[in-house]
Amino acid sequence: MATERLDKNKTIDLRKKHIGPSCKVFFSHDPIKIVRARGQYMYDENGQQYLDCINNVAHVGHSHPDVVRAGTQQMELLNTNSRFLHDNLVVYAQRLQATLPDKLSVCYFVNSGSEANDLALRLAWQYTGHKDIITLDNAYHGHVSSLINISPYKFHQLSDVEHKQSVHVAPSPDVYRGKYRADHPDPARAYSDEVEDIISRAHKRGGKIAAFIAESLQSCGGQVIPPAGYFQKVAAHVRQAGGVVIADEVQVGFGRVGSHFWGFQLQGEDFVPDIVTMGKPIGNGHPMSCVVTSREVAQAFMASGMEYFNTFGGNPVSCAIGLAVLDVIENEDLQGNALRVGAHLSRLLGKLKDKHPLVGDVRGPGLFVGVELVRDRVKLTPATAEAQEVIYKLKEEHILLSADGPHRNVLKFKPPMCFSHEDAERVVEKIHLILSEIEEALNMRMPNQVHLDNGKSKRKLPDENGVQGKESAKHNRT
Ligand SMILES: Cc1ncc(COP(=O)(O)O)c(C=O)c1O
Repeated sequence: MATERLDKNKTIDLRKKHIGPSCKVFFSHDPIKIVRARGQYMYDENGQQYLDCINNVAHVGHSHPDVVRAGTQQMELLNTNSRFLHDNLVVYAQRLQATLPDKLSVCYFVNSGSEANDLALRLAWQYTGHKDIITLDNAYHGHVSSLINISPYKFHQLSDVEHKQSVHVAPSPDVYRGKYRADHPDPARAYSDEVEDIISRAHKRGGKIAAFIAESLQSCGGQVIPPAGYFQKVAAHVRQAGGVVIADEVQVGFGRVGSHFWGFQLQGEDFVPDIVTMGKPIGNGHPMSCVVTSREVAQAFMASGMEYFNTFGGNPVSCAIGLAVLDVIENEDLQGNALRVGAHLSRLLGKLKDKHPLVGDVRGPGLFVGVELVRDRVKLTPATAEAQEVIYKLKEEHILLSADGPHRNVLKFKPPMCFSHEDAERVVEKIHLILSEIEEALNMRMPNQVHLDNGKSKRKLPDENGVQGKESAKHNRT
C-alpha cells in the first residue's frame, strides 16, 4: 500500500487550510510526517525510523498484527450496535472485569476517554443526587465541556472563563514540588486533609459532594505519584460526604505500571474506586473506551428511567480489538516487560541524577516515568526551556519524547509496552549527552562541584519548535 499520497509540503499546506488551528502538531516549526509504524518504532515518508517513547495509545506496539487481524476479521463479518446480542460484547466485558476487583462488575462501552469521564460524572450525579465535584490541581480529564470544567490543566489557561462554584480543586499530591513534600511526616494525610477541608467548606456553602475524580497517577499534571495511602484517606472523606471516587485510568491503565494491571492498585488492596474510566491503550489506537462501576451505581443510573444508547460503543469490531489487546498483553507478558524494562529505565535515569544538576527528580512505576528538570535543586526553579531543548535535540536523534506538567519541565516516558532494554539505554545515553551540552553552556555544576552563576549563560535555549530564545510555557499537550 502506498504510504504517502501527497508531498510533505502539500500536506502542510492542506492542514493549514482545512484543519482547525488549535489542533497542534508536534514540532510545528519542522513537523514530522509519519507514514507507518511497527512495535515501538515509527517511520517517516523517507523511511527514517523514530523511537517512540511517548505513545501510550499504541500500547502493545504500533500496528500489532494480532490486533489488526482481529479488527479486520470482525469487520469482514459484521459491525453493528449493542442493541443486538453479540458474544464479543459480553465476553469482552467478562475479560475486563476479571482484571478488576469483584465490586467493579458493570461496563459501559464508549468511544474516547472524554466520553468515559463524562459518563462517569453522570453516573456519580445520578447515584448520589449531589452536584459538586472535587478534582486535582493540574488535572486533565478530557475535552468536552463537562470535563474542561474539572480540568485545571486547561481551565487555568482561560482567565476569562467564570469558574463553576460546584467544582473544587484540591492540591495535587505531588511530594516533589507540591504543598507537602517528601520531608513531610505524613504527606498522604496532609493532602487528604485538604480534601476534607474542601468538603467542609462546600457543605458550609450548601454544596453536596457527588464525586472526587483523579488519575491514579497524574500524567499531564507532571507524572505525579501520590503518596501511599492517599486515596484510601480521600475515599473515606468523600464517601462520608455521600460522594463516590472516580479513578481515571485513561493514561495509566492496562499493565503500564508493571506490578499491577491498574494504577489505582498501587495504593493497596484496601482501595477500590467506585467508578473506573479507561481509554487510550484499550484499543491500541482504535477509538474505544469504557466505564466500569458497581451494580449499585449502575442500578441508580437505570432508575433515572432514561435509556443509555451509544451508537458505536461496544460494537463487535471494537470488542474484538479490545479482546486482542488483552490477549497480546498476556501472551507477550507486556506487564512483566513494563516492570523489568521500566526498572532498568528508572535505574539509568537515576544515574543521570547523580551526574546532572538539571535532573531534579526521577519518579514513576513501570513504563510510566517522569524526569523533572530544574535549574536549582533547592529552589526547584523549573527548567522549562532546557526540557524543550532536550525534546528538540532528541528529535534530531530520531527519538520522540515530550515534556509536560504545569511548568512543562517534566520529561515523560510512556512508550509502547514492547519498549526494550536497548531502547532504554539508547534514549538515556542521548539524554546524558544533551544534558552535558546544555549544562556546559549554562556553566552548571553538580552541587558538590563549583557552582557558577548560570545567569551568565552562553546562549539562549530554543522553545519546543526549536525557535531560539523564546521560552514557551503554554500547555498544549494532552
Ligand atoms: C487522563 C486523561 N483522561 C481523559 C482523557 C481524554 O481522552 P480522549 O482524548 O480520548 O477523549 C485524556 C486525554 O489525554 C487523559 O489524559
